[in-house]
Amino acid sequence: MTDVDRVLSISLGQAESHPSYGSLISFGERIAEATDGRYGARVYANNSLGDQQETVQLVSDGAIDMAVISGTQIENSSPRFLPMNVAGVFDDIDHQNRVMLDESIVGELFASLEPQKRLSVLGGYTQGGRHLYTATGPIETPEDLAGMKIRVQESEIFLRLITSMGGVPTPMAYSEVYTGLQAGVLDGAENNEISYVTQRHYEVAKHFTMTNHLVGFDFLLANTDLLEEMDEADSDAVREAWALTQSEFVEIWKQQTADAVQEMLDRGVVITEPDPEVFLPIIEETGLSILEDPADIALYDAIRAVSEKEGA
Ligand code: GCU
Repeated sequence: MTDVDRVLSISLGQAESHPSYGSLISFGERIAEATDGRYGARVYANNSLGDQQETVQLVSDGAIDMAVISGTQIENSSPRFLPMNVAGVFDDIDHQNRVMLDESIVGELFASLEPQKRLSVLGGYTQGGRHLYTATGPIETPEDLAGMKIRVQESEIFLRLITSMGGVPTPMAYSEVYTGLQAGVLDGAENNEISYVTQRHYEVAKHFTMTNHLVGFDFLLANTDLLEEMDEADSDAVREAWALTQSEFVEIWKQQTADAVQEMLDRGVVITEPDPEVFLPIIEETGLSILEDPADIALYDAIRAVSEKEGA
């Protein structure tokens, strides 16, 4: 870490081998450079400052300066983020990235937690497409998942999704999934290829089923008082450093996903590509069924409107 006057603490749930760790280190270096060393950052990996749900509160209180939080955890703080976790809302990473950089769609939403919770959303990292993996397999139909306990993030959408896909959803913190699978408390879980590999879940769940049920997003939360107490030039520098870091990450993500798939093959993971007609219609229907509030539907529609598929 560079020698700086004020070190900002950033909480991350990922291992150091996950690309978000290196990316956050670069973010800190960018901040140090742009603020002439008035600020820098230190990244705490592996949930060492607490699991995501706890760190939302710690950032809100100002005990931690920033944290990377899965969209499903923000959904618990504010249902306004719900449409971003709905299966089918994003076509792919590129569509998601366009949305996340579009002030007219996300500007108000990202500032919406500031008055009450003192949480500012600066943007975030893609989680890529999420897939299912199980200790036994292959999984090709909902019947194959019958009775299987599948770990989900603590989220209403995920509970519904896994139920509709045929499994038994079991909410659990990310840091506990490996041991859950190892002990047989879980029969499977769901995540992207990079998390599957960096958490070494392939050691305890060798069947990977490409369901692509959600293009997820991790939000970067910062304490609002911190940003407001900075000189405006410094807080602008932090936001600009983040914008650069976020855009660069999309390409890093694509490359590392390809590397993760190669590693999975090298490690003997059995990859199944189910017939798209089997799970996809269920996934889409479940996603839409959760949106009832007109504001949620409007956000969903705004996101869909910038999809290239819609325009085609
Ligand atoms: C991904 C995501 C994390 C999230 C995790 C999970 O790894 O990037 O933010 O915590 O999935 O399934 O809990």
